[in-house]
Amino acid sequence: MSGTTKRIGILTAGGDSPGLNAAIRGFGKSAIGHHHWELVGFRDGIRGLVENHTVELDSRALSGILTVGGTILGTSRDKIHKMTVDGEVCDMRATAVEVYEKNGLDALVLLGGGGTAKNAMRLAEAGLNVVMLPKTIDNDIACTDTTFGFATATEIATEAVDRLHSTAHSHHRIILTEIMGHRAGWLTLGSGIAGGADIILLPEIPYSVESVAKTIETRLSRGNTFSVVAIAEGARDQGDTADAEAARVLVDVAKTPEAQRAAKTHLANVEDAQREHTFKLARELEAATGLESRVTILGYVQRGGTPCAADRLLASRLGTAAADLIADGQYQVMVAARGEGTEPVPLADVAGKVKLVPPDHAWVQTARQLGTGLGD
Ligand code: F6P
Repeated sequence: MSGTTKRIGILTAGGDSPGLNAAIRGFGKSAIGHHHWELVGFRDGIRGLVENHTVELDSRALSGILTVGGTILGTSRDKIHKMTVDGEVCDMRATAVEVYEKNGLDALVLLGGGGTAKNAMRLAEAGLNVVMLPKTIDNDIACTDTTFGFATATEIATEAVDRLHSTAHSHHRIILTEIMGHRAGWLTLGSGIAGGADIILLPEIPYSVESVAKTIETRLSRGNTFSVVAIAEGARDQGDTADAEAARVLVDVAKTPEAQRAAKTHLANVEDAQREHTFKLARELEAATGLESRVTILGYVQRGGTPCAADRLLASRLGTAAADLIADGQYQVMVAARGEGTEPVPLADVAGKVKLVPPDHAWVQTARQLGTGLGD
């Protein structure tokens, strides 16, 4: 138990993810029950912080939320330095500092992903004491073994890949299932292997349609008249990957505001044109192989519902570890998962970085050894 009473703020930001409530509970039970601090929640992420939209979190508010999906606090995807307020884009850092002080806070705990790491960093630079917990179904946060939400989403996507086998088999079809993950392929790779997908397509390994078609034709020649393709939402063929990369480079090198605007518009147009990529691939595979093709977009079902045991355990571990760090006066860090333990990592090492699947990762090698087509 800590000798000093503290008052701590907590918020959830970015896309929701199973395990958020388990983490709020883990942190809250330790903060209130173990350290005897006060806990105040902010509604709807960064927006609730700048609007001072608070909710007192006592033991009763934390009861019964372990198994509940989503977040009891609500969430939003705002950027603290570029928030739309009354139709105008504003830097709200000073307001956040005022709200923090007005509430007499000693620290702010942010549960979020890549965007939240950047917000946390900006708030730390503005003078707040912050601690971040890594959540996202994408598992793409740097410097942590894993993130809560990922295990549950992997279960959900695996079940979908499982179920698609019987219908693909019955109709002698190719079924492509598009799996979330933003620019990272972790969720597709994990669920693709666990669900026994015949082909797994990742953003990190741009595919060629010919190679994917060849895998399906080889299966056909062996009497397998169906194929299940797990494709990441960020996966693109080699041509589209090169076009998108070239458009991103133009944004990076643009020097004047006008050039920046033009480059961003070009990038948005390129990305827009690629949005239906899974349907395009389905048509191309149908033409190349003669097999009927269908698409299933898993979408938000991957983020909804009760967290699995692994995520509840991880979120509880990270939550209680965050309370211990605050008790020790350790701020401006993310609580990383490291093996069975946890470790504080400076926010500066996390913000602005993305953890992608290394093309030689052990899971990629496993998929190759299983004979899974990776489209390269
Ligand atoms: O980061 C989680 C995630 O579900 C990604 O997999 C996906 O690209 C994105 O969020 C969707 O964002 P939104 O909830 O804003 O539609």
